[in-house]
Amino acid sequence: MSAPSITPTSVKPCQLRPAVENLQPRLVEWRRHLHQRPELGFQEQLTAKFISQRLQEWGVEHQTGIAKTGIVATIDSGQPGRVLAIRADMDALPIQEQNEVPYRSSHDGIMHACGHDGHTAIALGTAWYLSQHRHSFTGTVKIIFQPAEEGPGGAKPMIEAGVLRNPDVDAIIGLHLWNNLPLGTAGVRSGALMAATETFYCTIQGKGGHGAIPHQTVDSIVVAAQVVNALQTIVARNVSPLESAVVTVGKFHAGTAVNVIANTAELGGTVRYFNPALGKLLPQRLEQIIAGVCASQGASYELQYKPLYPAVINDAAIAELVRSVAASAIETPAGIVPECQTMGGEDMSFFLQEVPGCYFFLGSANLSMNLAYPHHHPRFDFDETALGMGVEIFVRCVEKFCN
Ligand code: NI
Repeated sequence: MSAPSITPTSVKPCQLRPAVENLQPRLVEWRRHLHQRPELGFQEQLTAKFISQRLQEWGVEHQTGIAKTGIVATIDSGQPGRVLAIRADMDALPIQEQNEVPYRSSHDGIMHACGHDGHTAIALGTAWYLSQHRHSFTGTVKIIFQPAEEGPGGAKPMIEAGVLRNPDVDAIIGLHLWNNLPLGTAGVRSGALMAATETFYCTIQGKGGHGAIPHQTVDSIVVAAQVVNALQTIVARNVSPLESAVVTVGKFHAGTAVNVIANTAELGGTVRYFNPALGKLLPQRLEQIIAGVCASQGASYELQYKPLYPAVINDAAIAELVRSVAASAIETPAGIVPECQTMGGEDMSFFLQEVPGCYFFLGSANLSMNLAYPHHHPRFDFDETALGMGVEIFVRCVEKFCN
């Protein structure tokens, strides 16, 4: 869907801060509207409609239905120049909200518990500002509203649909509202920010039998327990102590009765790391250990190993641009926090594999307002003051990058 571009309302040098202050109540309104109507990945129909309607009102050219529910808005300054993309995710989580707020989720069992409602509002605010101040930058800005960040991942299908081409994107930026940091700070760093995320499922096949006659069986629980313990040696003994990695077994299902030796045991887990070289070592060691323990006990196994998202790796030059912009926009002594790495994953990584860019965290916790629950918690909420900060940082990045 597209609409004709409108003439900018002002050709004067922009007064960004007052404009964003005026915009703040609308950012809050949009965020709360979306918060009340959360949708799961690839089902963001209402969300996409809301975004598209706003863009249409402002005369922002955009395409809908990319990778099912994604949207790309293109804001052309009318002057030749570079192309910067801004990415926001749109999806919510299968969580029942426990907040008692007027804008609580009206969709049973679904909640914006990660702040993606805020990301969408910030991206919309940025689109509004840039569409009304096209003379404040040169080149083109693409705003990418991406579905399904929480899984199975909307970034990859959007890239495959060509969102980084025509015009070709030179760099990409994106942010995550972050309750691990207080309002008035931003986590910006070059290099690895978030970890590669991979999962595994393993079925261990023993030989069931009577709980009192173990010598006639192969106890899949005993084998699986040894596997779980042995997997801990991967990070402890195969990964350099100077590197970061995680192997977590988060699922262990076996057995039906206290006097029955379980025929099979099912394990599932997640693997995280920053250094791409570990992407070979970790699954290799995982299978060697499972195979070795099973062989030693007379059990067999089936293993499924799935890479999900690569690590989020920021480009040094774009990270420096974001850092300097954020430092001047935030103006607090705590300011920029470079020690903000996390083993959490993000499919922003697929965009960053294609073009240089920077993903960063925008502090959104406020302890005095009891807004500091962790992401994905049923009481997650954030300080909405961060919405305006996000718009200001994005707009300043555009002006700095594109001019
Ligand atoms: Ni998130």
